[in-house]
Amino acid sequence: MNMTVSLLYVDGCPNWRVADERLREALAAVGRAATEVEYVQVSTPQEAEAISFHGSPTVLVDGLDPFADAHTPVGLACRLYRTESGLAGSPTVAQLVAVLRSPSESLMTVDHAVLDAQRRHWQEVFRANQAMYGTNPSSPALQTLELFAHEHCHDVLELGAGQGRDTLAFLRAGLSVTALEYAPGALTELTRTATDAGLTERLTALVHDARQRLPLPDESVDGVYSHMLFNMALTTSELESLAREVHRVLRRGGWHVYTVRHTGDAHHGTGIPRGDNMTEHGGFIVHFFDQPLVDRLAEGFSSAQVIPFEEGDLPRRLWRVTQQKVTGPLRS
Ligand SMILES: C[S@@+](CC[C@H](N)C(=O)[O-])C[C@H]1O[C@@H](n2cnc3c(N)ncnc32)[C@H](O)[C@@H]1O
Repeated sequence: MNMTVSLLYVDGCPNWRVADERLREALAAVGRAATEVEYVQVSTPQEAEAISFHGSPTVLVDGLDPFADAHTPVGLACRLYRTESGLAGSPTVAQLVAVLRSPSESLMTVDHAVLDAQRRHWQEVFRANQAMYGTNPSSPALQTLELFAHEHCHDVLELGAGQGRDTLAFLRAGLSVTALEYAPGALTELTRTATDAGLTERLTALVHDARQRLPLPDESVDGVYSHMLFNMALTTSELESLAREVHRVLRRGGWHVYTVRHTGDAHHGTGIPRGDNMTEHGGFIVHFFDQPLVDRLAEGFSSAQVIPFEEGDLPRRLWRVTQQKVTGPLRS
């Protein structure tokens, strides 16, 4: 299928030539080396406003800006991109490859009302299933426990804890756990089980939407863990914010372990497309991860160890991503 690719720039911006070189490399990498790139110079603030120009350089794929979200400013200015090695004046080749490889998925407009409705869906699912994922700890939780023990991680944050099969294992191992989850019914179940087991002393369970600022002070935990939270109905931009929040609340040298379903999963590329590499199956929206997305969320962390594993009957195909915080606060 034909694809139109444009590069919008401001004369004098030093980064558009870098973007141009990377764009050509990315086009070659996706087998589209012959694609003609249209160059558009933006010269006045009025022009920038008229075409909703998000700064120089801007790459448009089929007329749409895959790197912009509702917060990206419009104007005659230089543009910064979040890359795996920090803010940069151009997207990386890997980021460009990702948007060129699946433009319809990544460019499809995300309907935030549909994503928001997932919260109610999860509440209903948990109301109908007292132990949706069973009561035994998951395999990534057991592996993470080994890491946390070895690295002397004591204060732990768990995101998207669900009904707490893994939270309970962490508590039993003597860790202090703050468990966040946006479906209140799941947390009620978690608290009930922890109470029955006499394990509430080191548990803080809070209803919290992971799209909001984490309710913890800077550098206050040794480890952050989540099993299948990052692959929920979260846009790439929300995932980037969440990864930065995880970095903020971790102590330097602390560990971040998260699991995600990836593009090798049988459900990837099927179901109802929801934009931004998300699809819906049986009412559940999943954001399927590829390596560029893992890289994109790695700012301020050591390079990620990515271990594949499977879970459930489908089976779900997942990655366990482990990385260590290696820098101080990230630039905003
Ligand atoms: C696939 S389940 C996994 C639950 C748990 N980690 C486990 O493995 O048993 C994903 C969980 O993330 C929660 N969740 C999804 N989106 C969330 C969000 N934006 N904020 C907080 N929790 C969320 C869901 O309610 C659900 O409990």
